Amino acid sequence: MKPSLRTTIAGIEMVNPLMMSSGTFGFGEDFTRFSDFDNAQVGAIVLKGTTLKPRLGNPPPRIAETPAGVLNSIGLQNPGVEAVVTEILPRLAESGLQTPLVANIAGETVDEFAELATRFSQATNLAAIEVNISCPNVRHGDLDFGAEPRPASEVIAAVRSAPHLPLIAKLTPNTARTVDVARACVDAGADALSLINTLTGMVIDLSSRRPLLGNKTGGLSGPAIKPVAVAKVHQVFDAGGHLVPLVGMGGISNGDDAYEFILAGAAAVGVGTVLFYNHRAPREISAGLAAHLERAGFRRLSDAVGAAHSKKHWRKGSDETT
Ligand SMILES: Cc1cc2nc3c(=O)[nH]c(=O)nc-3n(C[C@H](O)[C@H](O)[C@H](O)COP(=O)(O)O)c2cc1C
Repeated sequence: MKPSLRTTIAGIEMVNPLMMSSGTFGFGEDFTRFSDFDNAQVGAIVLKGTTLKPRLGNPPPRIAETPAGVLNSIGLQNPGVEAVVTEILPRLAESGLQTPLVANIAGETVDEFAELATRFSQATNLAAIEVNISCPNVRHGDLDFGAEPRPASEVIAAVRSAPHLPLIAKLTPNTARTVDVARACVDAGADALSLINTLTGMVIDLSSRRPLLGNKTGGLSGPAIKPVAVAKVHQVFDAGGHLVPLVGMGGISNGDDAYEFILAGAAAVGVGTVLFYNHRAPREISAGLAAHLERAGFRRLSDAVGAAHSKKHWRKGSDETT
């Protein structure tokens, strides 16, 4: 029997565990121009990071290619929460789209995060809110919300007090305290954790002898960051992350990558940078993941979650013999 990829995390019911990552899928409309791409094939769509006011983003250049990765400093370019709630979300509802939608919010203060959550709670077609306490391209004065447990928990607690929608806290890899931050977010009311956002990096232009990106630094994504991301998911799961579902992401480009994240402890996976060069990736990733589960004898996706940690699960899998 073919294993089922259906999954529910934090109340989000998905046909498969593939969540299109924030900032790499626009507001869910861009990919409909491909005749062989259907939003219904993906588990959920996480919308572009949204701020209270519209943002033009950082000065160009905002993208630099690196070996096995991309450095971006988009700087949260978005039309602002008002336009998303009153124009974009209603348009998506009218299109008949059944795929669960997740808003991604980014505030400059704790109060802004709370206001964004309240505003988004008024939308009728959102399945959850992802709280981006991890954007490396936007400064909040000296405060980096996701780097330390206390500011992270203040944000999540403030958002939690807004009208109810499931909350996903998005964690940064740019801290040695990922596990402490994860715990703080769960204690403050996060229903799930997603990890990782991009890693801070820089490229120097050799001819001008200056940082290439207009913002000087950017966030590294793509295959180059996958081992870092897998390690973070594994650590957080080990430390009790299995108490809430984890959405693992960072460099996933095929079914092998997605399976690796599931074994490390992810209950769902984010698909991001790969979409820039392969719009068929979601279909390929879900087929590859299903084939792995079938080969390993897992009947359901949930049976494989965290199998890299547990002897019981590990024995069930075929990986013990490879
Ligand atoms: C161009 C670009 C824009 C992004 N914008 C956002 C964003 O607005 N909010 C957010 O939480 N993450 C954002 N991210 C991070 C991704 O959602 C994801 O966490 C990261 O890229 C790692 O996954 P990947 O290697 O599969 O891309 C962005 C990433 C890229 C490449």
